[in-house]
Formats: sequence, structure tokens, C-alpha cells
Amino acid sequence: MLKHDCGSCHGLPPKGGLGPSLMPEVLADKSDALLIDAIQNGRAGTAMPPWKNFLTVDETAWLIQQLRKR
Ligand code: HEC
Repeated sequence: MLKHDCGSCHGLPPKGGLGPSLMPEVLADKSDALLIDAIQNGRAGTAMPPWKNFLTVDETAWLIQQLRKR
């Protein structure tokens, strides 16, 4: 379900579409804190919505681990 929600903007596999690439090689230089903030709070002024009403910080951290592994 999450892959579907994120994939609508980031593509499947998430190489980027409306949103930027979320492939492991791109995420490698970004910290967990930065990515958790981007997912929890969204990015003001862009199409990236905040997910904090749907995902806890733990779930967000888990999601990032999944994205890093692929
Ligand atoms: C409505 C479209 C849309 C959806 C749905 C969406 N995103 Fe995004 N996302 C974006 C856009 C656009 C950006 C770029 C924001 C910017 O310019 O900083 C972004 C940025 C990001 C970033 C920051 C990337 C970076 O390089 O700093 C992450 C991480 C991210 N999204 C993860 C997710 C995850 C995980 C989901 C699913 C829970 C998701 N996104 C769903 C549009 C979307």
C-alpha cells in the first residue's frame, strides 16, 4: 500500500517521477534524520505531502531501511 502511495509520485521502482528518485544510491548520501523529516512533515511548497498522520516515526524509519536495501 505504501509503495503504491509513494510510487504514484516517485515511480515504481522509485527512480523518480513527479518526486525525486528514492533509489538506494541516491539515498546513500542523505541522513535518516533528513529523510524522516521529509516524510513526516512533507516539503513545504512542493507536491510532497506530510505523512505524520499516517506513519509514526518508527514506521517512517522502517520504510527508509526498506528503501535503502533495494
Ligand atoms: C503527491 C506526490 C508525492 C507523494 C504521494 C509522495 N511524494 Fe515524496 N516527494 C514528492 C516531491 C515533489 C518531493 C521533492 C520535494 C523537494 O523538492 O524537496 C518529494 C521528496 C521526498 C523525499 C526527500 C528526498 C530527498 O532527496 O531529500 C523523500 C524521502 C520522499 N519524498 C519519500 C516519500 C515517501 C516514503 C512517500 C510515501 C509515503 C512519498 N514520498 C510520497 C512528491 C510525493
